[in-house]
This record gives sequence, structure tokens and C-alpha cells, in this order.
Amino acid sequence: MAKKIVRDMNVESKKVLIRVDFNVPMKDGVITDDNRIVQALPTIKDVVARKGKVILFSHLGRVKTEEDKAGKSLAPVAKSLSEKLGQEVLFVPYTRGKELEKAINKLKDGEVLMFENTRFEDVVGKKESKNDPELGKYWASLGDVFVNDAFGTAHRSHASNVGIAANIAEVAAGYLLEKEIKFIGGVVEAPERPFIAILGGAKVGDKIGVIENLLKIADKVLIGGGMSYTFFKQQGYEIGTSICENDKLDLAKELLEKADGKLVLPVDLRVTKEFSNDSEIRIASFDDIQPDEMGLDTGPQTLKNYGEILKDAKTVLWNGPVGVFEFSNFAGGTIGICETLANLENATTIIGGGDSAAAAISLGFADKFTHISTGGGASLEYLEGKVLPGLACVDEV
Ligand code: 3PG
Repeated sequence: MAKKIVRDMNVESKKVLIRVDFNVPMKDGVITDDNRIVQALPTIKDVVARKGKVILFSHLGRVKTEEDKAGKSLAPVAKSLSEKLGQEVLFVPYTRGKELEKAINKLKDGEVLMFENTRFEDVVGKKESKNDPELGKYWASLGDVFVNDAFGTAHRSHASNVGIAANIAEVAAGYLLEKEIKFIGGVVEAPERPFIAILGGAKVGDKIGVIENLLKIADKVLIGGGMSYTFFKQQGYEIGTSICENDKLDLAKELLEKADGKLVLPVDLRVTKEFSNDSEIRIASFDDIQPDEMGLDTGPQTLKNYGEILKDAKTVLWNGPVGVFEFSNFAGGTIGICETLANLENATTIIGGGDSAAAAISLGFADKFTHISTGGGASLEYLEGKVLPGLACVDEV
């Protein structure tokens, strides 16, 4: 069944609670990647344009103690949002109480307010993260309707999503959530074929569920990055000092057996003797890694092979960098994948969030894909085929 979307909700003169995921990376109070804020703008702008009273809230980081609150205020995020919206965002440094209620009740149509980090409620009794019923009910009482646009948090069952939804008359998805359902949900449910998945990242163990599910759905699963070495070692090859999960060798065997030829491994790698950007590089065949060498990037022949497989794809999903892209001398594989996908003419190209999204954005490919997911854990759980509580709590139409 389809989900109710914010465009179908009457918001005029209503207090519209909007859960966003503004859990953005920050360094010394400066936002280093604002993609999640940018992606939330369509929903906020739409509600403003239709004269709703916007009440925004999000978590930021993980908060267990009073000390953990340092550096986790949403104030810098409210400032950044205000610049992007071109209008004032009134920041209220509380998560409950008279001051917050007064500020909300004073809001005029089309005005925007943001309250403090929802996880500040975790300091005593983990009220937000344990979906304390009183907290969800209280937050719901602050608004008339609820819009969930926090895809990044959709795998969590917290007071600020599921808790509010259970205590309010109407719940819709925002436009970002709609987009994530369309693209990530679309891949899981009915991908246009050929559907090719590219999976990278350091560990097989982090992505067992995703690999298993994609092996059922995709036409091919191309492997890259650190996880390749666990597969090589399981097959008896020398991997030198490359990253390897020795406790996942049986799992790698099981996956290779289940894959029935669908899983494709790199054939060459950029190897070196030290984990450093400046150490000497050699291109090695996968069966020629020396005992004192480690693989840090995918090699040129592998990129060629993957390009051949990808050229007729109609849907491509990519999750996880295929090399240590943070080192410029080992970013070639990840850049190569970005370039290959950017040049596909008839394919829907989706980055499944996390490190590969950060890589594509930092390498300058942000606008070259059909969709870059804003989820990390949420995208992985969605790709595993799990039901996400933050999606399930949205009304159906
Ligand atoms: C994320 O960045 O993946 C989301 O914001 C969820 O954060 P969490 O893992 O701290 O719940």
C-alpha cells in the first residue's frame, strides 16, 4: 500500500511537527557535510509555502551523559538551515517545557522553529531512544499533524518518530522519505533489469544481510574494497597484510556457494607495503599478493571488467567504497566506479548511503547519480529487506 505524502496533507495554519535527520558531521562546531540539510529543504519549503507552522526536530550524535551534550547542540544546524531557507529559524534550546510550548504557540503561519537535540532526553532513562511512551505523547501534543522525513533514523523505533506517530491524528512522509522509498525501496521490491549491485567497504561482517538479500535480487553483485580479501583468503590465496576477517571465512564460503556465479571479485589490486598514501604502489593480480603487501585499492583491469558488466545495466546500486579513497593514491578505484556510473546513459544509479555517499560527494560526483541515499544504517537495513519502523509508522492511503 502507498504511504501518505506531505503534499496530501492540509497544513495551512496547522502546527506541523517535522522529524528530520540532521545528524550531520561537524568539526569544531562547523558542519562538514550538509547533504542531509539540503535534502530536507523540499519538505520544509513546501510546508512554509502552504502556510504551515513548522516545528523541526532531530537527534545529533549519541548522548548518554550530561557531558556528552557538549558539542551536540543543534544551534549551528538551525543557523545553517536558516541561511539555506532564506528565512529565520527560531532555535529553542530545550526539548520540553514552558519556554518551548510558549514559542510554539507564538508561531505564525509560514514560520519555522527548531528545538534542541532529541537525544538530550536520553541522559535520564534513555527516554528518546527507548521510545518512552510519555515523551512520544508529550511531543505529539505540541503539534496538530506529523511529517516524518528522517530516513536516516527510520531503522530506529524512537519517541521522536514512532512515539509521536502513535499519538497524533495524521502522519505523512516528507519528500525525502518518499524519494528513499522510491529508490531504495524500489531496488528491493522491483528493480528494472539488468540490476547490478556493487558492494565495497572494509568488512563482509557489516553487510552479511545486504549481500544475502542482494544475491537474491540482483543479476550480479560486484565486490570491491577491504571485504574482497576475506573472500580471497577463503579461497586459499595469499593476501599478505591486507585487511581480513578471519572469523568470517566460513561465511565467505557460504556466500560464494549461495551466489551461484552471481558474485564477482576483483582480478587485480593496487598493493603496497605500508598503510600510507606515500608508499610505493604495485598493480598485482589477485593471486600474486606477496606476504609483505597489502591491497588498498581496486586495480585497472577490475574496473574495466566491472565497466563491461555495468554498461547494459538498467539499475545500479552501490554501497561501500572500493578502496581507501581517503588516500589520494588509492582513490582511483572509487573514482573509477563514480565515473563509470556517471557515464551510464540509461540506468538508474543509486548510492546506498554511508561511506560511498560521502566518497561520491567528497570526490565531486554529488550530482551525477539518480539518488544518493541519506541513510547509513537505515539504507543497509532497508536493503536487507527489513521493515523500517520509521516508514511503517507513516499512514497508508
Ligand atoms: C545515522 O547517521 O545513521 C542516523 O542519523 C542514525 O544515527 P544513530 O546510528 O546514532 O541512531
